[in-house]
Amino acid sequence: MKVKRNPMPAALWALGIVSAIAMADFILHRLHIQVSTNLFHVSKRNAHHAASCATKLDGLLASNRTFGPGWALDLRLRFRTQQRLQKQLDRYLVSHGVVWVEGNSASYPDQQRTFLALAANPCVRQVCEVGFNAGHSATVWLSAQPGLAVTSFELGVHNYTRVALDFLQSRESHRRRINVTWGNSLHTVPRAATEAPRRPPCDLLVLDGGHDFRTAMGDIINMRALAASPFHVLVVDDVYCSADWCHDPTSALEAAVNNGLVKILKVYRSADGTRGFAVARYNMQP
Ligand SMILES: C[S@@+](CC[C@H](N)C(=O)[O-])C[C@H]1O[C@@H](n2cnc3c(N)ncnc32)[C@H](O)[C@@H]1O
Repeated sequence: MKVKRNPMPAALWALGIVSAIAMADFILHRLHIQVSTNLFHVSKRNAHHAASCATKLDGLLASNRTFGPGWALDLRLRFRTQQRLQKQLDRYLVSHGVVWVEGNSASYPDQQRTFLALAANPCVRQVCEVGFNAGHSATVWLSAQPGLAVTSFELGVHNYTRVALDFLQSRESHRRRINVTWGNSLHTVPRAATEAPRRPPCDLLVLDGGHDFRTAMGDIINMRALAASPFHVLVVDDVYCSADWCHDPTSALEAAVNNGLVKILKVYRSADGTRGFAVARYNMQP
């Protein structure tokens, strides 16, 4: 007698196989990210790798043109992408009733070009910034390289700051790449430093938070614990310029240099002298 086979077990088998493949695919995908991230950090500690990072930075700082020959076209394209993103951000802010935004890098395009070139260095994987504000500088970091991650330390006193973060995180390609630690950086940065072994170190550190001497000095001192070693870049905004808010950050940076904590590599100034920022590095000797 012919036994009629029940089609259900075959369907269940097929479902099981498809699920197993999907699961394996998911795990491999996650593992690949994990493996490549770890490999990067191992290689980043490699002295040879650090030397090539520094050579690239030296080339940028030695050039009078921000987008010098070599990768100029590539940088110009990334800058265009950033400007487009920034316009979308501004439109989003206006559509949410934001009429005023504290000073930011959008009004200093040469600064944004230099920021983009610094963050496009392939050795920069993690940007740590004090002062997210309305996210204008964050658009630069996010546009510099597709895999680059951004951590911001932000007081969060302006109502538009969370609106700007919502906009950036609403985009699939940015969602997991930007996060904000809310609160006073004088407390949040030292707290982050205690988690340092579990966090990726910061390859590019940008100080643009509180502009009073105490906060500017505290940020310079505290952010050192988050810096990658041996290669990292430190940017201190609003120094060596004539605007009122440049005075205290400049004094703080000079104190850090005089104490051997920081070495300035180059100072950039706008044509009218009102804006300025320094590219520097920490002395990582204990
Ligand atoms: C000049 S804005 C930053 C501009 C931003 N980097 C850009 O270029 O788009 C300064 C930001 O620092 C934040 N801030 C001021 N004091 C702070 C502190 N003690 N801790 C954290 N953030 C602070 C302010 O809320 C403000 O959003």
